[in-house]
Amino acid sequence: MERTFTILKPDCVKDGHVGKVIDKILSSGYKIIGIKMMKMTRPLAEGFYEIHKGKSFFEELILFMTEGPCIVAALEKENAVEDYRTLMGATNPLKAAPGTIRKEFAENISRNVVHGADSPENAIREIAYFFSTSELIGNIL
Ligand code: RTP
Ligand code: MG
Repeated sequence: MERTFTILKPDCVKDGHVGKVIDKILSSGYKIIGIKMMKMTRPLAEGFYEIHKGKSFFEELILFMTEGPCIVAALEKENAVEDYRTLMGATNPLKAAPGTIRKEFAENISRNVVHGADSPENAIREIAYFFSTSELIGNIL
């Protein structure tokens, strides 16, 4: 069984999309093995998005991710990472396929409702960045 990591970003929480997004996740066959709400600090967000440091959108991204509460979650399913990228839709919601989370709920390329890990290796790293083992319900501890 594969794991992926997601963030329901501050726009998702603020605009009241959490219930519908979680419903989509569950009805797509994911098991939630860890979940919590938090307001990211700047150092936490900068560490998480270190790979984007130096890019033109970095500061905007950090301000967005720290503007209000978000929900971080660890998910489990066969082919979790790739299937979740499909479920999210393209980074730019204008290019996202019908039925995807970003197509249905996202405003624009910056405020795009959800994050999803882009590889199984990054999923493991990202889950460990936000969760301790006692916060994860599962058997691959
Ligand atoms: P994510 O990491 O959040 O799952 O999104 P992603 O893989 O689809 O996109 P990525 O290239 O990793 O970018 C990370 C996040 O940065 C913001 N972004 N803004 N204004 C822009 O041109 C721009 N490009 C990226 C988005 O919030 C994106 O999800
Ligand atoms: Mg990404």
